[in-house]
Amino acid sequence: MKLLVKAAKQAQRTYFQRILLYRFTSDNSPLRKGLQSTECQWLCASSQEILTAVRGLVEFRQNFISEAEEKALFKELEPGLRKKRYEFDHWDDAIHGFRETERLQWGDDCESVFRRVREVAFPKGSSLLGPVHVLDLDKAGYIKPHVDSVKVCLSSTVLCVVYSVLLFFMLFFLSFQFCGSTIAGLSLLSDSIMRLIPENNSAEWLNLLLSRRSLYILRDDARFKYTHAILKDEESFFAGQKVPRHRRISVICRNLPV
Ligand code: OGA
Ligand code: MN
Repeated sequence: MKLLVKAAKQAQRTYFQRILLYRFTSDNSPLRKGLQSTECQWLCASSQEILTAVRGLVEFRQNFISEAEEKALFKELEPGLRKKRYEFDHWDDAIHGFRETERLQWGDDCESVFRRVREVAFPKGSSLLGPVHVLDLDKAGYIKPHVDSVKVCLSSTVLCVVYSVLLFFMLFFLSFQFCGSTIAGLSLLSDSIMRLIPENNSAEWLNLLLSRRSLYILRDDARFKYTHAILKDEESFFAGQKVPRHRRISVICRNLPV
């Protein structure tokens, strides 16, 4: 019985995604209207309304870094990451199968990447949150739907090592001041699917195909009024096509509030 339900659900999802793919690729489709043709390759949504709602708030740059730049970033990060173990039980349960680090100083090859990220993602002159956050997801790892505010701010300021309940609550409130409105993430080593879901309407969704070496940018409401998730390998489909999820490293820049 369970198997039957599972198969039915899978068939329903595939069917639904096929319809969307059809709509996306059909020139006359209402979903296509107002959509850049390049968007169809990386963005898939449950409705035209949600696409309109995130216009300008979700940005994507395919092949933002070269293979050589990906290698340079990996070379800087891998020795530190290798010393850590993947954690499968995060304290707030949002991320499974990950290890993470932060980095303030980068070699010249990498520094030029961050200069470009700053240029495209953040308003001129806005201050960036000091260290860059690096998240290494194991092949079996994934990120459950969440909104950043607390978790990320705490981890990025290394406050996750503070176990006092009192301090936790203090930081919970402070954290809202630490994070700015924009997040920009580079994806290394693997393609993946990021899913955004409006907090006030769980029937709607957006899937972003985050290809290897791409940059995604989430701004304002896309950060605070939508949950975001990175799908596990078994669920990693885009427009009906399987997108294998391997080990993935994301390198995430944030800004401070103005
Ligand atoms: C996070 C997160 C996204 C990514 O660390 O909170 O959502 O691209 N990461 O890894
Ligand atoms: Mn997050």
